[in-house]
Amino acid sequence: MQLGRIPRLRLGEYPTPLAELPNLSRVLRQRIFIKREDLVGIALGGNKVRKLEYALAEAQAQRATAIVTSGAVQSNHVRLTIACANRLGLKTYVVLRGERPERPTGNLLLDHILGVAEIHWVDPKRYATREELVRATEARAWELAEELRKQGETPYVIPNGCQPLHSALAYAGCVLELLEQMRALNLAPDVIVTACGTAGTQTGLILGSLLFAQGQIRVVGISVSGKAETLRERIRQNLEEALRFLEVDLPVPKQAVEVYDDYVGPGYAVPTPAMREAVELLARAEGILLDPVYTGKAMAGLLDLARRGAFRPGENVVFLHTGGVPALFADTQSPAFYPETSGRTKV
Ligand SMILES: Cc1ncc(COP(=O)(O)O)c(C=O)c1O
Repeated sequence: MQLGRIPRLRLGEYPTPLAELPNLSRVLRQRIFIKREDLVGIALGGNKVRKLEYALAEAQAQRATAIVTSGAVQSNHVRLTIACANRLGLKTYVVLRGERPERPTGNLLLDHILGVAEIHWVDPKRYATREELVRATEARAWELAEELRKQGETPYVIPNGCQPLHSALAYAGCVLELLEQMRALNLAPDVIVTACGTAGTQTGLILGSLLFAQGQIRVVGISVSGKAETLRERIRQNLEEALRFLEVDLPVPKQAVEVYDDYVGPGYAVPTPAMREAVELLARAEGILLDPVYTGKAMAGLLDLARRGAFRPGENVVFLHTGGVPALFADTQSPAFYPETSGRTKV
């Protein structure tokens, strides 16, 4: 569907599947559903595809000849940007923050298979904090775009996680899709639980709840890196921007912006025991693979909140599978799942 006067491409397969998780529901005594954004149908999927449909439509409108983007070494955003840009015949130039590994694994391997045009590296040792490193990586992407412009290209820069407005429109649209899917089952979603990174996805889900469900869907964000208060503030700003763009005058109640940062552990992409429990539980109870950086931590949050009675009995809780599974195969992540091995795998 088209939200606002803004171009959008169609790159994924919609609606993404919605399924109930019967075994997990039995364990938690709560109906839990999963919306499979990981099955959106392009390069192992994830929540970036809906956002990129807006970003790349803008790139096309500007007659871009090259895409520039940036992220972490194991960025899902980067993988999906290359894949989606390939569909439009555009080359993607990438800036990655982190040490260049000897052999690419996980997402980085897929970046190579997908034919990334160039990868530029930003050395984390030169920056005192993660925030500084992220800023320097984004700045390098803009510099690279300038260099490409001098070489005769028309570059279009996509920030890591995409522009907040594109994310908001993309995930408001996802809520409408979910409402239709649940309605076909004679049900309604009461709660959506999602991983919260740049907070774009959560912003869009809240926007969708406000626009299409009178704010009746509770959206719970589980931070994978940032502080809850910082993310809440960012979501409020992004929501205001999106509502202004749509020329909709709607109040955003304080309780509509709900973020928890209790499941991050020592830091972004650092494995935690709760993440491992969540990934293994979903794999073993439902045969569904989550990822270690985003959905594993988000599911750890859902499990903990459910066990602590944070959802009302009878409520339908929808977990948004935002993708990221290639990171399970990253050499930095896979040891989290077999730390005790010395030849034999303990089950
Ligand atoms: C797999 C996955 N899930 C969730 C997120 C978080 O989405 P957002 O940045 O919109 O908060 C990301 C972002 O990189 C992601 O790759």
